[in-house]
Amino acid sequence: MNMLDAIRNRKSVRGFKSDPVPKSVIKEILEAASRAPSAVNNQPWEFFVVTGEPFSKIRKECAEQFRAGEIPHSEYNLISWMKGSVYWERQAELAKHIFQVMGIPREDKEKRAQWMEQGLRFFDAPAVIFICVDKQLSESGPLLDLGAAMQNICLAALHFGLGTCIQDQGVMYPKVVRKYAGIPESKRLVIAISIGFPDSESIANRITSTREPVENITNWIGFD
Ligand SMILES: Cc1cc2nc3c(=O)[nH]c(=O)nc-3n(C[C@H](O)[C@H](O)[C@H](O)COP(=O)(O)O)c2cc1C
Repeated sequence: MNMLDAIRNRKSVRGFKSDPVPKSVIKEILEAASRAPSAVNNQPWEFFVVTGEPFSKIRKECAEQFRAGEIPHSEYNLISWMKGSVYWERQAELAKHIFQVMGIPREDKEKRAQWMEQGLRFFDAPAVIFICVDKQLSESGPLLDLGAAMQNICLAALHFGLGTCIQDQGVMYPKVVRKYAGIPESKRLVIAISIGFPDSESIANRITSTREPVENITNWIGFD
């Protein structure tokens, strides 16, 4: 796959086969991730890769907390949108699209909650990569570097036929994640990436997100 094809083919995968992902493959993916650029080469990323029993426990307890009415809340507010803004409209369009593809009626709160729970269960991926940074570093600076590493993970995963879903949902019950992934308090838990072989039967994997045309988001200066 050439580079542009890989970039164009990457998409969020929300339905996985149960087949395990070999540690050696994830290691190679993380080696590719760590080739990402970072400010002054400080390489702020740290990975906690979880599978098997500890991951099952994270999944189970996150779902239990959600069902018990514990409001999902990450330590880090990565996503924000102002009501009425274009950002609000885009997230609303995505949600509408997902619910439409999944056949979930807007007013069906139970089914919507089940979908949320699916996300909190990491869409049953066989493994997850939690990305952390040391608390000695500033809160915002490393996020640029982490973004580059995240994209490397998602693209490198394609090379092995794997799919990924970057998930802030995956860090919404941080105490649960910290407990089973062994993440110390000295580290900020920033984001999760679910990883596994995509389930081609999964309806969720039919979702294709839209993009704003480049002309709407680019200012060309000095060109003819
Ligand atoms: C920082 C970040 C957090 C995200 N969190 C979630 C999430 O919690 N659940 C989910 O299903 N997708 C999540 N996504 C995936 C986005 O919804 C997805 O990237 C976007 O809709 C574009 O679709 P695509 O990845 O298929 O191109 C997240 C993506 C990013 C970059």
